[in-house]
Amino acid sequence: MIDPKLRVLLSSVQIQQRIREMGEEISRDYPTGNLHMICILKGACFFLTDLARAMKRDVFVDFMGISTYGKGKTTSGEVKVTKDLDISLQGADVLIVEDIVDSGVTLNYLMNLLEQRKPKSLKIATLLDKPERRLRPVVVSYVGFQIPDEFVVGYGLDFAEKYRNLDDICVLEETPGVAAAK
Ligand code: IMP
Ligand code: MG
Repeated sequence: MIDPKLRVLLSSVQIQQRIREMGEEISRDYPTGNLHMICILKGACFFLTDLARAMKRDVFVDFMGISTYGKGKTTSGEVKVTKDLDISLQGADVLIVEDIVDSGVTLNYLMNLLEQRKPKSLKIATLLDKPERRLRPVVVSYVGFQIPDEFVVGYGLDFAEKYRNLDDICVLEETPGVAAAK
């Protein structure tokens, strides 16, 4: 897809290589027990499917819908569960799989919510982390890449629902249309 507003930040080769490493590391950290990988929709579904296949052990996968963002690029600060899990977490090792940690509002809320369901353990794996943007504290156990404070799209990440199906992760350069949507 050729779009002058997009600049490649992480190529699909870099992404896939890093996910293979993460899968090996996480598999080593959870040698036994039931491991639930919880995909936060919609952005993380591309990462979840690749990470689950990079795992060297059985996993359960489940999906949770959370909305914090509107159609623009800034968070409203409000978190809403739009789809809940199908499988109980009681006594299980749980890994939340997220595309990107930005302000931390979503994951701070989600950790508190899922903790109440009595998992044996609860940790976070994210493909991308923008530590400079943090407003709420979040402990992230597995990070694919730390990235600068730029708005990125591709490999699941969207701007107003567009660009999710790019293979690469790209910076969406400022344009008058994008600035107006902020
Ligand atoms: P947080 O609650 O601010 O940490 O936001 C997390 C969510 O915001 C992510 O799951 C994404 O859906 C979205 N988000 C944050 N930064 C970006 C970005 O650079 N591009 C696309 N979506 C983003
Ligand atoms: Mg998201």
